[in-house]
Amino acid sequence: MHIAVVGLSHRTAPVEVREKLSIAEQSMGQSLQKIKESSQVLEVSILSTCNRLEIYTLVRNPDQGVTAIKEFLSSHSGLPDEQLSPHLFVYNQEEAVAHLMRVAAGLDSLVLGEGQILSQVKKMLRLGQEHKSMGPILNRLLTQAVSTGKRVRSETNLGTGAVSISSAAVELAQLKLAQSLGRDQMMTLESEKVAVVGAGRMSRLLIQHLQSKGCNGVILLNRTLSRAETLAADFPDFRIQCRLLEELDDCLINCSLVFTSTAADQPIIDASRLSQLKRSNSLRLIDIGVPRNISADVSDLSDVESHDVDDLQEVVSRNQEARKQLAMEAEVLLEEEGRLFLEWWDSLEAVPTINLLRASLESIRSEELQKALSRMGPDFSARERKVVEALSKGIINKILHTPVTKLRAPQTRVDRQEALRQVESLFDLESQTDGK
Ligand SMILES: NC(=O)c1ccc[n+]([C@@H]2O[C@H](COP(=O)([O-])OP(=O)(O)OC[C@H]3O[C@@H](n4cnc5c(N)ncnc54)[C@H](OP(=O)(O)O)[C@@H]3O)[C@@H](O)[C@H]2O)c1
Repeated sequence: MHIAVVGLSHRTAPVEVREKLSIAEQSMGQSLQKIKESSQVLEVSILSTCNRLEIYTLVRNPDQGVTAIKEFLSSHSGLPDEQLSPHLFVYNQEEAVAHLMRVAAGLDSLVLGEGQILSQVKKMLRLGQEHKSMGPILNRLLTQAVSTGKRVRSETNLGTGAVSISSAAVELAQLKLAQSLGRDQMMTLESEKVAVVGAGRMSRLLIQHLQSKGCNGVILLNRTLSRAETLAADFPDFRIQCRLLEELDDCLINCSLVFTSTAADQPIIDASRLSQLKRSNSLRLIDIGVPRNISADVSDLSDVESHDVDDLQEVVSRNQEARKQLAMEAEVLLEEEGRLFLEWWDSLEAVPTINLLRASLESIRSEELQKALSRMGPDFSARERKVVEALSKGIINKILHTPVTKLRAPQTRVDRQEALRQVESLFDLESQTDGK
């Protein structure tokens, strides 16, 4: 059995490719089911976020298993293999485990140490359990990744003061405002008329950061008005006007800065929509949705400035140097956690051989016991029979204790496999291990 992860992230694929692979929560069950239809796949779980789509899997054969996952990704995205493959990464065994630990800790994130990724790894674990697509190995791996993510944030300073995609988006707005006015310093957003489209987790963070960056208030648009109102109620000291999404055109006419962060699977703003509006002001759009909420054709319009999640790199890289040192502290913990998982997993490798060894000795014991008992004849009382039976079991258990403990003990994979091979050979278990 083999652990592999196949996926892509902001490091390997631009947003126009990532958005084709993103899997919404409501279709996660169907995707997991489809992957499990492959006879190669024993366990599977999917991490789908704005910056990555990663499929963690336990497969029978590494090459065939990874091919099955790639076929799924190609059919799901509609991208032929030759277009998709250059963006995919594949990690196997120890590398796959180490990668997940880094992801959960936020070390592979666009914004180093950001906190949202840990919730997303928790969600991957929950969905895998709910849809019963995982077995004991991935369950253990993902549970350990979640606890590693928590540990890194509590035992290092990586999580302290970490920025998020939303705070980076607000910072990008400040930077672009300053650049448009020819200023070197970051500017507050008090002069901007701001709208936020969407009222989910990311919009909440956007509003927090807008408030802290001197913005005077926002118009909050959402498909469901009550959700926007609930969000607004959590910011009693900030002026938030809640509107239905139907009023978007009005905002696009009157606002100078519009953030979009909805989970819509199609763009909600495109060039044709904007061209039809009679606008007199400049308009800056910042879209953190993946799939994108703002169509790429908006970049053709000369009077609109539009940015997507990949453009955040510009502000993120300014903050990263200081965080890199903190990331190095976390690496030590990640190594330890990865090793603990691998030791546990390796020790499972011994289980089938140990079971065969027990079964083989048990069969010898019961056969020899029957022979002995039949030789003793009817004079042997039931109580005496029990004593002899217990004696024979006790001897077998004592003989097995040391080899079983040694086979399960932490050791290198090569050493364990060699020890298992010798036990199988010495006790002639090999013929019975074929179906293992
Ligand atoms: N979570 C993260 O860490 C993260 C990071 C970066 C970017 N993003 C991206 O940001 C976006 C929002 O993420 P989130 O975590 O804030 O999501 P969320 O908490 O689930 O909120 C989803 C929001 O999208 C709206 N929405 C869903 N489908 C819609 C549709 N068809 N048309 C219009 N509005 C729709 C919802 O409106 P209702 O209230 O009416 O349902 C809600 O306001 C996603 O594209 C995500 O990929 C997320």
